[in-house]
Parts: sequence; C-alpha cells; structure tokens
Amino acid sequence: MNAPAADLRRNSELDEVLADARQRFTDRNPRSFARHTEAAGYLPGGNTRAVLWYRPFPLTLVSGDGCRVTDLDGHSYVDLVSEYSAGLYGHSDPLIAAALIEAVKGGVLLGAPNRYEARYAEAIVERFPAIERVRFCNSGTEANIMALSAARAVTGRSKIIAMTEGYHGGVLTFAHGGSELNLPFPFVFATYNDIAGTEALVREHAADLAAVILEPMMGGGGCIPASRDFLAMLRRVTQETGAILIFDEVMTSRLAYRGLHGVHGINPDMVTLGKYLGGGASFGGFGGRADILDRFDPASPKAFSHGGTFNNNILSMTAGFTGFTQVLTEEASKRVNDTGDYLRDGLNAAIGRRGVAATVLGRGSLMNIHFVPGPVDTPAPLDRQDPRLLALYHVEMMLRGYHTTPRGMLALSLPFTRQDADGFIEAFDDFLSVHRALLPGRAA
Ligand SMILES: Cc1ncc(COP(=O)(O)O)c(C=O)c1O
Repeated sequence: MNAPAADLRRNSELDEVLADARQRFTDRNPRSFARHTEAAGYLPGGNTRAVLWYRPFPLTLVSGDGCRVTDLDGHSYVDLVSEYSAGLYGHSDPLIAAALIEAVKGGVLLGAPNRYEARYAEAIVERFPAIERVRFCNSGTEANIMALSAARAVTGRSKIIAMTEGYHGGVLTFAHGGSELNLPFPFVFATYNDIAGTEALVREHAADLAAVILEPMMGGGGCIPASRDFLAMLRRVTQETGAILIFDEVMTSRLAYRGLHGVHGINPDMVTLGKYLGGGASFGGFGGRADILDRFDPASPKAFSHGGTFNNNILSMTAGFTGFTQVLTEEASKRVNDTGDYLRDGLNAAIGRRGVAATVLGRGSLMNIHFVPGPVDTPAPLDRQDPRLLALYHVEMMLRGYHTTPRGMLALSLPFTRQDADGFIEAFDDFLSVHRALLPGRAA
C-alpha cells in the first residue's frame, strides 16, 4: 500500500475510533448528559465558562475530596484538571475549610478594610521578590487589565507587546489569531523565546511602547517554559527603552515557592497573580515596584482610582492567606513540583518507548501533552497537531478514571502523590498501546 492510501485509512479510522470513544462516554454518563441538555435551555451551550466545555458534553461534578472528584453518575476520578491550576490545594484542605468557617461566623461583607487583607498583602510582598506593594482584585483577567492600564498611564504610551498564542484572560486572548472580544489596545505580537526578533520588535516600537506582557512559562499556550536568556533580554531591553515589563504569574507563581521570577532571579516591574492564590475563592492581584503601585494610594497626587466591590472580600482574603501561608510551605511547594517533574519524565519515557511523535512540555506541577515531536520551544509547531488526537486522548483518559483537560494540560494539586502519578503513567501508556496504530510515529 502506498503512503497516501495508508494515511487516508488512518484518517477515517481515527474518526471512527473517536466517535466510538465518545459514544462510550455518553453511554456511561446519562445523568451528566441530561443535566447538560437541560442547562442549554438557559445557558448558551449549557455552560458559563468556555474552557469547561468539551465534546461530547462536559461531565457535571458534584463533589471533590483530596485530589479526587465525583460526577453526577457516581464515578470517581483522579483530578488532573485542578481547576486549570487554581485548585492547587486540592478539594478538601482542612485548614482552609476551618479558616473559611471561622470567617463566615464574623460576617463576610463588612464594607470596610478588614483584618485579613493587609496580612495577606504582607505575606505576598515577603515571598515574591518583585512585589514591593500589591493590590487585590477579583480575577486574573482583571489583574492584567489593571497592570496594562497602569503601565499605559504611567508611561504615557499606548502600545503593548504580547506573545502570539499567549493568554492573559477572557479579553486578552491571543491564541489562534485572537478573540473579537479582546480589549481594543494596540497590541504588537512577538514570538515566545525568539530573542533576536523580540528585541528588535521592542526597539522598533520603543517610542510608544508602554508594556511587554508575558508568562515566564506559557501556561494556556501549551506549557512552554521561557528560556532564562529570553527573560533576561526582555528585562534589559525594557529597562533601556522605558517600557514596563509585566510577568503574568497567575498560573506560574505556583511553580516555585518564590514564583518563577524568583527562580530566574529576574524582577519584572509588575507581576500579576490569580487562581490558587484565592485558596479556592475568586482572586486577582497585581503588584510590583512601589513607585508604580503607590500611584494607587488615594491620598497621593494624581492617584489612580481603583474600584472593585469584592477586592478585599473576606472569603478570598482568608482562604487565600491560609492556603498561601499555612498549606503552601516551602517544603509542600517543592514536593508538588518534584512530583510534577516525576510525572512529566514518566510520560515522556512512555512516549519514547512506544515510539510516538508526542511530547510533554512544562515544568513542575504544570504540564501539557502534545501530539507533535519534541523538543518544542515556540508555540507554532503545536498548532500543527491533529486536534482529534488530543480529543481521543482526553475521552480515553476520562474513561480510565482521570479527570483531564481537553487541551492536554495537566495541573497537579498538593494531595496528588507519586503513586497517583504512577497510575496516570500506566493508564496513559495503555492508551498509547491501544491506539498506537492511529498515533503519529517518531519518524513521521
Ligand atoms: C496566565 C493567565 N493569566 C490570566 C488568566 C485569567 O484569570 P481569570 O480566569 O481568573 O480571569 C488566566 C486564566 O486561565 C491565565 O492562565
């Protein structure tokens, strides 16, 4: 048989195998299916958060315990979604639960500064080297909007350099050509890890460049770590040109006790925070150089007005503070990230043994499976993978009892152990072996 004929056959087989896996998923989850169908009458697509939607329909989860979740049809899963990294503490941390109960007893909407916000700010300033002052808000999106707007106001310039395929929130979405809902800022796009090209772009736009924003490891963009040289170049060239360097550490600050900028020893001008830092409640934060952040002091001349009804809400402040200071110790942070490295190495070893053209990118407790050959250090090759392979992987891992994301991202929580990692590696290896004939080979 010649190669195109073999490709055609593999192509139609993949459609059939995917359809069969989705049918098994549907048959196994009648209650989730019914709830999803009913919800679609009131919520467009039956959901209110795009990333939680997938084919054939998303499962409805009813409870969580440690690193496990249970769905409406009574199945239990090991959770590797971990709320897209926000669920770092797992589903039932007793210290966070106790702190929340205690806080609720005292009233949660006092409408004034409370006892919790300053002590949380102090802990954040003490831990993250680039944060001299911090402001709280309600989401990572809001944190990035505030940081970018502040950078434009402080510099009196308008342009923003962001990374192709980057993600900084619902209105700062740069994957697959961007979103029509994006903020109308004049964005200029650079290629992640392209040192020479990005430096040239910064210099070209320097006169009107307010900020450069990026994650020190692309999270939503596929868990591509930035090279230290790339970050160091950005630090140098933004200092030379007067642009504000913003590291979005909404996800990546969980990758090391002092954040990823702490690991690299590179202090940006501003850092944005979110997700796990709310301890399970909604959260956003932006911090950085005191001279920038002090413009938010209402008593200062030409102060920036920064509102937000729930900016200091007691539930986020107390859950966030307790998780950050009592649960995420230096030792716990190291353990979860070491377990992540162990899992990523194990998955890559399985891929190597099976001879599949795939790779698991990432660092520590965040990683992403891709069906393209590694190594990969820019987003472009990831766009070339057949989306049906990830879809098949996703449904098959769900059928094997692992709650995973459709895009292949895996986020670990503190209760996830090496034994859990071994179980996932084994299940993934089984998936590779069952579907080996449909997966691209190393030499392909
Ligand atoms: C890097 C990054 N920045 C910002 C955000 C937006 O955070 P939120 O969903 O809390 O608005 C996300 C969310 O996934 C993110 O991954």
